[in-house]
Amino acid sequence: MENRSQWGTRIGFLLAAMGSAIGLGNIWRFPATAYENGGGAFFLPYLFALITAGIPLLIMEYTIGHKYRSSAPRSFKRISKGMEWLGWWQVAISFIISTYYPIIVAWAAMYAYFSFSQSWGDDPTGFFVGDFLQVSEAGTFGSMVPSVLFPLLAIWLIVFVILGLGVKKGIEAANKIFIPLLAIIFIIIVIRAVTLPGALDGLEAFFAPDWSTIWDGSVWVAAYGQIFFSLSIAFAIMITYSSYLPKKSDITNNAFITGLANSSFELLAGIGIFAALGFMASQTDQAVADVADSGVGLAFMVFPEIISQMPASGLFGVLFFSTLLLAGLSSLISISETYIAGIQEKFNVSRGVAVTIGGGLAAIVSLFYANQGGLNLLDTVDYYINNYGVALAGLFEVVAIAWFARSLKDLQSYANDVSDIKLGTWWRFCLSFITPLVLGFMMLQNLSTDLEENYAGYPYEFLFNFGWLVALGAMFFGALMTMKRWPNKKDNE
Ligand code: ALA
Repeated sequence: MENRSQWGTRIGFLLAAMGSAIGLGNIWRFPATAYENGGGAFFLPYLFALITAGIPLLIMEYTIGHKYRSSAPRSFKRISKGMEWLGWWQVAISFIISTYYPIIVAWAAMYAYFSFSQSWGDDPTGFFVGDFLQVSEAGTFGSMVPSVLFPLLAIWLIVFVILGLGVKKGIEAANKIFIPLLAIIFIIIVIRAVTLPGALDGLEAFFAPDWSTIWDGSVWVAAYGQIFFSLSIAFAIMITYSSYLPKKSDITNNAFITGLANSSFELLAGIGIFAALGFMASQTDQAVADVADSGVGLAFMVFPEIISQMPASGLFGVLFFSTLLLAGLSSLISISETYIAGIQEKFNVSRGVAVTIGGGLAAIVSLFYANQGGLNLLDTVDYYINNYGVALAGLFEVVAIAWFARSLKDLQSYANDVSDIKLGTWWRFCLSFITPLVLGFMMLQNLSTDLEENYAGYPYEFLFNFGWLVALGAMFFGALMTMKRWPNKKDNE
């Protein structure tokens, strides 16, 4: 019997799982995605995706990890031989995400520092793109940017130390500090934001439903994409984390707690950010729609402007960027743990060696984003790896488990044996029919858009090399890894 690492306490596991789920996706992705996709009306597809796909898949991944007590590739292999590929594909997706994710965390660290003196002056956009990132033309790379490189190396050092210390002493201990701290700081920010003049206008813009968007397929695509990325499902994370649960652990309850905590945080982030946008709109005599921006733009171009206009701005800035730093770090740790666990098992090496090889490789690749072309590269890889990585792997996962391996009944009774909340037929119905249908439709819709027009207007060659090839490369890598035999004879049978 293998001596597998374990979480020390149930709350330790829950904090680590929440730490993984609550990440950059909650703070910089969700508010803008919700706003762009119909505001209040977005909550309908969002809730639908959460209830029919997010929570059911999370329960399924927790069950798989707990039952097979292995990294994603070996867990899938134990369900059905042909499924090992899916596990490595998901691990490869995580690897790719872990090469650009720390860049945003590094930016956040620098911006926490810049907040003291509001280094961005009165042109935050110009500062971000020009002075800070020195962005070169799309498709070119230029030279290394030291103000990104050094914090990036510091972030990796922290991640290496935490991962090297192991599941209980490293990951669990770190999340026990990060997550409560994150929650406290975030609540302070939200309270401050909603009490600013103009906050109500921002909230009205955020929540006002635009029902005309409800029939638009891309809105549903956005909702599913958001749920998958935000809940850390379909990229090997939750299987890996739950494989460290002690034998006697509740599964379903833990999944509901993680899912609800993640969505509550997401909602809170939306409220805080739109209250702040309302404030900014009122200060500059503009409509909220004119000041709102998406993703990177929202956090690093619009927020600095808001910070500058606030009373006690330095402090607010430090707090805001610290939340990005904490949320990002705890997620990055979980994303990297997927390949640490995979390498350890497949090559029968110690955790230290796996962290050095896996983490070291990810750190080296991440340097590509620390040059002048990094922003465009990051935007492209992020878009393709989410649409043709995470979401597509999610579709393959449900179809493989529900229709090929036909394991849902088995997993259901396993989960029910150890959990207080019993899963009913609804769970199998969601995973067998609703999720594959909606995800399948979503894939076709995305594909037709992306084949018709170049994403964000980037040159085709650039998108081909760093979008399509990267996403397809992850799949190919999955197949390649299955050719190597497992060290344990039984695993090759
Ligand atoms: N779940 C993580 C996030 O939301 C990856 O950023």
